[in-house]
This record gives sequence, structure tokens and C-alpha cells, in this order.
Amino acid sequence: MIDFAERVDAVEPAAPFVISNLVSELTAAGHDIIDLSVGQPDVETPTPIVEATKDALDGGHTTYTPSDGIPKLRRAAADYLNDRHGLDYGPENVVATPGGKQALFETVQTIVDPGDEVIVFEPTWSSYEPMVKLAGGEAVRVDLAPHDFHLEPALDDLQEAVSEDTALVILNSPVNPSGMVFSEAAFRGVRDLAVDHDLAVVSDEIYKELIFEKDQPSLANYDGMFDRTVTINGVSKTFSMTGYRLGFMAAPTDHTTQAGKVHSHSVSCATNFVQHAAAYALSETDVDAIAGDMKETFRRRRDTLVDLFAERGVDIPVPEGAFYVMIPIESDDDMQWCKDAVREAGVGLVPGRAFGTPGWVRASLVDTEERIEAAVDRLATEGFV
Ligand SMILES: Cc1ncc(COP(=O)(O)O)c(C=O)c1O
Repeated sequence: MIDFAERVDAVEPAAPFVISNLVSELTAAGHDIIDLSVGQPDVETPTPIVEATKDALDGGHTTYTPSDGIPKLRRAAADYLNDRHGLDYGPENVVATPGGKQALFETVQTIVDPGDEVIVFEPTWSSYEPMVKLAGGEAVRVDLAPHDFHLEPALDDLQEAVSEDTALVILNSPVNPSGMVFSEAAFRGVRDLAVDHDLAVVSDEIYKELIFEKDQPSLANYDGMFDRTVTINGVSKTFSMTGYRLGFMAAPTDHTTQAGKVHSHSVSCATNFVQHAAAYALSETDVDAIAGDMKETFRRRRDTLVDLFAERGVDIPVPEGAFYVMIPIESDDDMQWCKDAVREAGVGLVPGRAFGTPGWVRASLVDTEERIEAAVDRLATEGFV
């Protein structure tokens, strides 16, 4: 018998996978499922990036690399953040990781001690809290649901959430799962709080290229924030490279030095030829064109879905970026609702409880407008809407 560690018992498998596993099972059995449960763009990786990947393989880039990443990638990531997001990082500030998720995991491991508290905003991406628990910490939630998922009206609640045990705030905008983009005043509020209480902040900006209309600052730019901010980004969403598994953290060098220890003792380094492909994506492609096309597609699908639900009397807080929509449902058990929706309506959605907001489900806008229309029809026909 294996006696499992308490910290592993304390977390559940990622809920989105519960639904996507069910979708895969039913699809394999021949059912036509419209799968809006997955968190990845339904767009092919741009051909030049695929070609650059092949070139990297042909060029023999198949060995270990320096743990923090090849110099070319660290430079490209820093330049990308500086040029596009107005930040001010050098290659020494960057650690390249297998996905932004690993950069977040390493960051939480680096900052959070057992008993520490970490503030997250609900609805929250489903992996932050498990990461905190695996580090022995405790997540303290600030609920944005009463404010249509906006942070600015909840800044007082954020103040109240701080205690002497608070070690970290995790900010994510555009938000997975609500698609909200936090206002500049909200960013300023987080800045003031972090500086007043001497807190570290993670700013997960992985969807920053996919903001539809308004602009959004980067947190590390604010006065007093560079030294206390870990910026997370990567190539998964912007370049539709989820399976490459390549992300990065950018942070002051005292953080990258400490996090680099966790990195080198866990993954050694990100995959060599993938790092070359990511360096190419970040420095040699037309990001405006790639992300611009995606953004336009997601915005149209957002409008379609929001309008179709509005026609059926369901009001949806309108997402401002990324490719997610939170939909209110009338059920006490959103997991069961989602399982039934897959089986009976053939539509894959993720239960809100995965994000700390039961009573909602998340749709990813990762199928065509026609299929999204068909999904809403199916849900309505089967009595889910
Ligand atoms: C909010 C957020 N942060 C980070 C990630 C990690 O992405 P990846 O590990 O593919 O870079 C995701 C992926 O879904 C996400 O939604």
C-alpha cells in the first residue's frame, strides 16, 4: 500500500478534465458533442512556427539547455514583454518553463510557506488554489460574482481579505473563466494594497493579447511594483501553441534565482526545440496579425452566444477578452448539470464550481458560430436553458 501525502489528498483533479474526459468518451463512442469545455483556441499553430519547430529539430536542438532557458528565448521573451506590454525586463529576469502553468507552480512554491494565505479572485482559474494547497498555503477568496465579475467594485473586499498571513495576491486579467478585463482603477487598487502591505503579486497576463476593446496596463509597470511582481505569460494562447508547453515568468532576479532552484530540480529545463520555436514566435512573427485574427473571431462568437442567451432571457456578463463566457444556470449541482448537458444535449461546458462560482457554467468560444448556435439550440431543446 502506498500512504499518500496529505497535500495531495487536499486537492481534486482539475474539474475541466472531468468534463473533457466524458466528452472524449462519448465522442469515441460515435456521439456528436459540441465541446465548449476546453481552454484552447481552435486555431492551428501558424505554419511558419511549425516550420521553425521542424528546423530546430533538424538543427539538432534535442539536448538539455541551460535550466532557465536558451539565451535567445529569454531575450525574445523580455523584448516581447517590453515592446508589446510596456514592461522593462532583461533576459536575466526570465525563466522559460513548460507552460505558464509550471511558471505559476514554481512561483507559488517559491513564495508560499505552510500557513501562508494567498488572495485569489473568484471566479478564479481552477489551478491557483490547488497550487497554493500543494505549497501548504490557504487561498482566501474575494468574490467578484456580485459585481458582474469586475474587480473595481470589490476593492474594499480585497482590503478586508488581507491579514498578517497574506503572502501573495494572484491577479489574472483577462480572466479565465469570466473573460473580464480589469480596469485601470482596479489595477491601481491592487498596486496600492500591495505596496501598503508589502505583498508580492502574481500578474497572470497569459490572455493579454486577446483583449477585445479596452486597453489594460501591466501590473509590474506601476510605481513600486516591479520588485514585487511576477509576470506570467507564454505562447499557448496567443500563438495557439498549447501542446508545445512553453511559458515563462518575468520577475526581479531575486525571484528568478529562487524560483530557478525549483525549476532546475523539477523539470531541468523546457524542451529544447520548443524553446527555439517559441523564440521564433515571439520575435519573428506578426503578433498583431495572429492575435488580431483570433480576437476578431472570438469577439464575433462572444456576440453570437451572448445574444442567443439574451433572446432566451438569460443575461450574461459580457466578456471583454480571452475566449470564455460564464453563463448562469438554475441548478444546485453544476457538475451534474454539466454531465447531463454532455450526455443529453451533446454540449461540453465546465461547472462553475471549478472556478469557485457554483451556479454558473463556463463556455469556451472554441467552435464555429454555427456550432455555437447549434449548442445553444440543443441546450434549449433539452430544457437546460
Ligand atoms: C489563467 C491561466 N493562466 C495560465 C494558464 C497556463 O497556460 P499554459 O500552461 O498552457 O501556458 C492557463 C491555461 O489555461 C490559464 O487559463
